[in-house]
Amino acid sequence: MDLFRRKPLDVLIAEGGDEERGLRKSLTWVDLLSLGIGAIIGAGIFATLGSAVSGSSSTPPNPAGPGVVASILLTALCCGFCALCYAEFASLVPVAGSAYTYSFATMGELVAWIIGWDLILEYAVGNIAVAISWAAYFRQLLMGFGIEIPAWICTDYRSALLASRSVADAAGAVTGLSPEGTVAYQAWVSHPTLFGFPVILNLLAASITGLITWLLVVGIKESARVNNVIVILKVATLLFFIAVGAFFVKPDNWHPFFPGGFSGVWKGASLIFFAYIGFDAISTAAEECKDPGRDMPRGIIGSLLVCTVLYVAAALVLTGMIPFAKLSGVADPLAAALAFVQQDWAAGVIAFGAVVAMTSVLLVFQLGQPRILMAMSRDGLLGPWFGKIHPKYRTPHVTTILTGIFVAFFSAVANIDIVIELTNIGTLFAFVLVCLGILILRYREPDRPRKFRVPFSPFTPLVGIGMCLFLMFKLPIHTWERFGIWLAIGLVIYFLYGAKKSRFRKA
Ligand code: ALA
Repeated sequence: MDLFRRKPLDVLIAEGGDEERGLRKSLTWVDLLSLGIGAIIGAGIFATLGSAVSGSSSTPPNPAGPGVVASILLTALCCGFCALCYAEFASLVPVAGSAYTYSFATMGELVAWIIGWDLILEYAVGNIAVAISWAAYFRQLLMGFGIEIPAWICTDYRSALLASRSVADAAGAVTGLSPEGTVAYQAWVSHPTLFGFPVILNLLAASITGLITWLLVVGIKESARVNNVIVILKVATLLFFIAVGAFFVKPDNWHPFFPGGFSGVWKGASLIFFAYIGFDAISTAAEECKDPGRDMPRGIIGSLLVCTVLYVAAALVLTGMIPFAKLSGVADPLAAALAFVQQDWAAGVIAFGAVVAMTSVLLVFQLGQPRILMAMSRDGLLGPWFGKIHPKYRTPHVTTILTGIFVAFFSAVANIDIVIELTNIGTLFAFVLVCLGILILRYREPDRPRKFRVPFSPFTPLVGIGMCLFLMFKLPIHTWERFGIWLAIGLVIYFLYGAKKSRFRKA
């Protein structure tokens, strides 16, 4: 059995060229830029930023404080190096599948399977986190209009249990906003029971996932158009926060700038990384793109730059408005900071923008995952059923619906912190393999035409690999364990199915 058989690049490129049978080619670079920003700005900046600033996800807290700006720049640099590698790959192999496809051409079938399996952590598991965060903000938004959705359908059992413990522990503590106000705690004190079991299920998160899934089954062009409108709205929301918040910045709040020292900045970077995930999702749409060689690099790097500028400005304003320790355990830091300076009207605007922002992240990720599964099915690593394209809508409807069910189920029952850390480790691992793939391909096929070349290779891919590993090592040991279990399950499936059924298996 040859586990390192590679998929010839010519086969890959030919597969992407058949418009009669394949996906419709309708996306321009503006669509891609929009798709990228759509994937990047979401739960990371609207929710995870607070955990990175206050360090509240670690025990004892390991805050980045205002130094989160350094975490953002560190992460941006890491993603920038990886983005260049993604751009070279996407211009060379303009076929659906992203890192999965690239690694099949360079490192062989086993590595490709591992990465395809790993990408489920980035796309589907990442979306679980976004759906959970979406539900929290949506509930908050409706409360602004006087409509209250019961807390027990907006959170999961574990979060409710943890909130009840932290309320008990925090009795008498003075930092932070009150944990009693959180949706998780409210669910704990008031929920129905079924046969004696508490019923706490995030049905709101599951419902938005269902809606997005339906939209994507109906068609990519329609979805891209909806996405363009949403992207403009969410960039405007961040600009609004920066403009209004700037009036309430007190430079005293920036002292000390690095309350947790380098360790806080590093920990912050390993969390805020979530806010950058998404630029690579653009490459999954390469097959639906009019001129991938020119448009892919523009879309990927452009969206990364736009987001970095917005994130740095938003983080500076946030940490200037409110003492960092007050953001401990706060799920909606930007809105909370505006409420802290008594601008409740502006906090409402931010809640609306956050809901819109996260909707578009859900859209892009739900778009990416089915296309990766489809690529794996085409290669015989998953059953042919996964590769079906809808006769009328020309979308991979089977995998889209399957992804929808997976995300909807886990968003109803999972805890967001665990999900974010798992997403980050999986995505960083995928980035490592993409950078490695560029090095291998430069060595093995130096003369193959590339419409975009990573500058300063091998330096750039090597730094990308180093920085990803650096961020991975700051994630907790439990995250590493869960990641290991996930990869082990994937390997069992591969040896039971893909290794035998692969299209590239020698007879
Ligand atoms: N970058 C995406 C977000 O922040 C995953 O929601």
